[in-house]
Amino acid sequence: MDGVSNTRFVPHLSGQRIDYLASQLLAFKDNTRGNRPMHAVVMSLSEGLIKYVAAYFWAQGQVPRGPVGTSSEETSSDSAPTLAPKLAEVVKQCDDCHEPNEKNRDVIRSYPILAGQRQEYLANEMRDFQNKHNRGNPMMTSMTELLGTADIAELAGYYANRDSSERLGRH
Ligand code: HEC
Repeated sequence: MDGVSNTRFVPHLSGQRIDYLASQLLAFKDNTRGNRPMHAVVMSLSEGLIKYVAAYFWAQGQVPRGPVGTSSEETSSDSAPTLAPKLAEVVKQCDDCHEPNEKNRDVIRSYPILAGQRQEYLANEMRDFQNKHNRGNPMMTSMTELLGTADIAELAGYYANRDSSERLGRH
């Protein structure tokens, strides 16, 4: 139970923010986030236990990068990820919410860290927000509205390969 996923569409949990993890477990429980296997797992958990589980995974810290959890179809490299100019502008907005900064200090605990997350999972979730399928979040629906398939793939690759050391920061 180290919170590190070896499965392409399953997210890493270790080092993810407590409030975000707890909110998602509750959303699986009450089916506001649609996912049958996760619903079955959490349906009998109390709110107290959900918070405990979330804190457990947060305390695991940074997801190891590199060979662990990467498949041959994934591109993983240690060089800094680069983006097309259009997406470089978009990423500034994504980071405003997803990465720690001065502006978002109060709310960031409930926003997920993207850096170092599994690539297919990130792309899949962006598509779900875009299609309002399984997940409904007005902020993310409007952020993904204008993205094409190639943009989503590029953004997912960018965040998956971005240094996840920020996960260690206690924000
Ligand atoms: C205004 C704030 C905001 C902005 C801007 C924003 N996001 Fe989000 N994002 C959120 C919130 C809040 C959630 C969690 C939604 C939920 O509870 O389901 C989220 C969830 C996600 C997830 C799911 C992560 C997971 O672990 O399940 C992905 C992927 C994502 N955002 C990508 C992006 C990308 C890429 C951009 C830029 C194009 C972006 N977001 C811009 C607030 C934002």
